[in-house]
Amino acid sequence: MTTTTSDTAADARSLFADRFGTEPAGTWSAPGRANLIGEHTDYNDGFVLPFAIQHRTHVALGTRADAVVRVVSTFDGDAVEVPLADLDALFPDRRDEVVEWARYPLGVAWALLAASGRNAVDLTGVDLAFASDVPVGAGLSSSAAIEGATASALAEVWALDLDRVALAQAGRRAENEAVGAPTGIMDQMASMLGRADAAIFLDCRSLDADVVDLGFDGAGLELLVIDTGVSHSHATGGYGERRASCELGASIMGVPALRDVTVDDLPRAAGLMDDVTFRRVRHIVTENQRVLDTVRTLRERGPAAIGDLLVASHASMRDDFEISVPELDTAVDAALASGAVGARMTGGGFGGAAIALVARARVETVTAAVTAAFAASGFSAPTIFTVTPSAGAARD
Ligand code: GLA
Repeated sequence: MTTTTSDTAADARSLFADRFGTEPAGTWSAPGRANLIGEHTDYNDGFVLPFAIQHRTHVALGTRADAVVRVVSTFDGDAVEVPLADLDALFPDRRDEVVEWARYPLGVAWALLAASGRNAVDLTGVDLAFASDVPVGAGLSSSAAIEGATASALAEVWALDLDRVALAQAGRRAENEAVGAPTGIMDQMASMLGRADAAIFLDCRSLDADVVDLGFDGAGLELLVIDTGVSHSHATGGYGERRASCELGASIMGVPALRDVTVDDLPRAAGLMDDVTFRRVRHIVTENQRVLDTVRTLRERGPAAIGDLLVASHASMRDDFEISVPELDTAVDAALASGAVGARMTGGGFGGAAIALVARARVETVTAAVTAAFAASGFSAPTIFTVTPSAGAARD
């Protein structure tokens, strides 16, 4: 059973009161995200179409008389405390001294100081208490939710002159340098810019963002998340290898990023590189085109018409980019076989979740069919729930 957002805000407030012995000044929150389409395109300067979900991380904040930042959370017992002036020495080189979850909020504080040009000694210290109902390890960006909540809260109490894009960039810097995951900007932008009933069409080169109405409700559709329970980490292994292959492909093509390669260039690309690099390139190039096609289809024909694009995206990730796992393929195949309009894995891959676009009347059938297919394959039962496109980071 998922808790509601207001429960989680109350959890953050009571954790604050328990651990720090006073009431917080306020709570701020930011959502996780699901990506409708556009996978691994963000760090290739390409296009993505994510939306913020109703699951959020809340942070209760209180100011302190000294210039220290202290963080606690419901997912780790210990408080971590660092003088603001020491953050610069800690990140990135000595990040291993900080317990992993705390690298996210402390990394955001560090990145915000750098982005704003403010001196740590001029800022008030803060106590931060986190509670979250974003599933961790499901590919729904629980990390971007922590980053977005922290950035919104600190930007307000420190009166930083930074817009939402700058806050998203601080979150990405925390993830890349304080945590060490070489990710793109999609998750942080989705968490900062999310809108109810809409996706964010983002050009990851210019950072121009357009709101695209999804209209699931009016079309009688639900978006199911199928969390496989297979956990993944982007700080290790496959994610960085895929990124390196993309950079190699771009350099062979003589362009700054794969964004600059089109579907028409693919026959030439095939003759210039090894088969594995070519298939990585083909995924990115065709996925960028699918994002553009999905945006156009949503605007012209509505959400019921995007199913084939979602299915093609999954096939490309499974066969060309090779970031799916058997549980994700089973989720997608079983959802489609039981009547989903479209389905694909979402997020970085190697585990995490799939999404399925399903007529409201078929939600129970699809849920039962996916659950049965997991059991038949000997996989642990998936967690299946609907997500609602929701608003981005804000003060509660
Ligand atoms: C993770 C990263 C994002 C993006 C996706 C894949 O979620 O954090 O930046 O690269 O994987 O689309």
